Amino acid sequence: MKFNIGLVIVFLTLSCSDTNHDENMDKSKIDENTIIRIQKGKELAMKAGNELMANLTLAIAEKGTVNALEFCATKAIDLTDSISNELGAYLRRVSDKNRNLNNAANAQELSYILKAKKTLNSGGDVKPQLTQVGTKSIGYYPIITNSLCMQCHGDPSTEIEEETLRRIDSLYRDDKARGYDVNELRGIWVVEMSHE
Ligand code: HEC
Repeated sequence: MKFNIGLVIVFLTLSCSDTNHDENMDKSKIDENTIIRIQKGKELAMKAGNELMANLTLAIAEKGTVNALEFCATKAIDLTDSISNELGAYLRRVSDKNRNLNNAANAQELSYILKAKKTLNSGGDVKPQLTQVGTKSIGYYPIITNSLCMQCHGDPSTEIEEETLRRIDSLYRDDKARGYDVNELRGIWVVEMSHE
């Protein structure tokens, strides 16, 4: 999985902490913690992404695209959950154009996705975003398409083979995750980390 994360620029969503904002809080301390957390989340998302990618590549090589599709359909969420347990954080993949209904982005995720798409369209680097909610941090990290994704997420008339398309249609009644090109925002990793 290729993450297009360049310079880490931190967006702190202050709206949650505005009301109990501590005037005496050390600003540099906040920034330091935020940078550490955003970096930690990035590592977790990359680990999970690499593991999914390794499994996907293996499934395609061993059994072809149609059966790899089966793997994605039955194992992607389970695998992500078990990676979450292993890493001690809660990870999900969501999208504005989701295939699985369970991977639909919520309003806040959607607003990040739309911003990120605009940035990408104008040739910029998409930066991750970290939001502090109580003792939790929630990080968003972009998932960018490459050529491997096209056989299942590309142009349905030229890139997705007929049999694959039939399988997708039978597994997902309301699939929106097609028609992508390379280097587009396919979705995001949402990484929830708890701090004491
Ligand atoms: C073999 C077919 C196949 C390939 C290749 C593939 N995907 Fe998917 N992808 C799927 C299926 C099927 C799902 C739905 C998984 C589920 O039901 O949990 C999915 C879901 C996703 C999701 C979760 C959001 C959603 O739409 O439900 C993301 C993000 C995603 N894929 C990104 C990628 C990226 C990035 C690549 C290329 C690196 C890629 N996929 C390659 C079949 C594929």
